[in-house]
Amino acid sequence: MKRLIKNIACLAGIDSDRKHCLRGSEMATLNCINDAWLLVDGDRFESWGEMASMPVPADDWEVIDAQDGTVLPSWCDSHTHIVYAGSREGEFVDKIRGLSYAEIARRGGGILNSADRLHETSEDELFAQTMERVREMMAMGTGAIEIKSGYGLRTEDELKMLRVIRRVRESVPAEIRATFLGAHAIGRGYSHEEYVRLVCEEMIPRVAAEGLADYVDVFCDEGFFTVDDTDRILTAGRAAGLRPKIHANELAVSGGVQVGVRHQALSVDHLERTTDAEIEALLGSATMPTMLPGSSFFLGLPYGRAKDYISAGLGVALASDYNPGSSPSGDMRFVMALGCIKMRLTPVQALNACTLNSAYAMGVADTCGSITPGKWANLLICRPGFNLTMIPYLHHTPFLRNVLLKGEYKW
Ligand code: NIG
Ligand code: FE
Repeated sequence: MKRLIKNIACLAGIDSDRKHCLRGSEMATLNCINDAWLLVDGDRFESWGEMASMPVPADDWEVIDAQDGTVLPSWCDSHTHIVYAGSREGEFVDKIRGLSYAEIARRGGGILNSADRLHETSEDELFAQTMERVREMMAMGTGAIEIKSGYGLRTEDELKMLRVIRRVRESVPAEIRATFLGAHAIGRGYSHEEYVRLVCEEMIPRVAAEGLADYVDVFCDEGFFTVDDTDRILTAGRAAGLRPKIHANELAVSGGVQVGVRHQALSVDHLERTTDAEIEALLGSATMPTMLPGSSFFLGLPYGRAKDYISAGLGVALASDYNPGSSPSGDMRFVMALGCIKMRLTPVQALNACTLNSAYAMGVADTCGSITPGKWANLLICRPGFNLTMIPYLHHTPFLRNVLLKGEYKW
């Protein structure tokens, strides 16, 4: 079935060149057509043009009137932890009272708290809770979601999380990728060394044997996993066919970026604390630096130096980090707004960081992230009068009129 969207004030994010990501000055470019139509064939984009050249719709086409709304590619969210049980609002109050993220973690809260709850929760219940978050994200316009394990911290519970991600992938039109993050914290009852060995020698082989993950991740940061641990875990992950995507430089300058680049990571994420050495290490690599301004906002951490990265010629992706401890929101529009307001990206740079570059950072740029013939028809139709700049400027005014994922708008 074909769908024709007409009367589009601005069709933004079109890309016939099939770029895989945008770097440096390219991040300030956005291809648009004003007064446009867009044709979707089933679940894929087909073609577009100016209203004066609109094709005559066949009888069986559905025509959607955008009523002078802007149309954009849907958000791509390349870093989330949305498989978790319950919530951690008690720690939210602890933070308000003055405890830091690291202090809460040292007291057995944080990731270990979520691991305890997840252990007691059945796979079906975990799936139901996760699906609520996924539906909320799709309704807010997210069409591609990377989801990590990492609240299991024992083999069976990590596998339980990854099976939940597989069920999500089979259930929704959003494009889903799974990342094994067994090395998110040291599981209860293990020494540091025992746990790293468990990840390398038991978890990774089981995950790979069941084909449950696309990527391998490590929380390479002060108080969690060292550069040496990360090197061992990424080596084991790559040998099992999992490409690295890692957490680095959230709590300290950890050396995580450099070890990630050495292992050809698809992305290195967080980067709240970086020096010029991290920028140097990334230049010339295929690794996408990914910043998570929602966690800077929620934890009161510095914002990533996106502008410096871009000035150096690098690309930058933005993602939500949706999780119960450091970023309890999957709202990519808010992420874009923080990119503009706090990181001083222009709306075009922030949009590119939240769409094509984030698609690249989760390995789906061949099907998501831009309006390109043959890519999934994942798009946002904005309310009449809402232009691109207003999305971050009026940062909490409802702006969406409709979301199409794989060509459908009812899911
Ligand atoms: O990306 N930094 C490590 N992991 C998550 C937080 C997880 C949690 O607190 O539950 C993050 O911020
Ligand atoms: Fe994270």
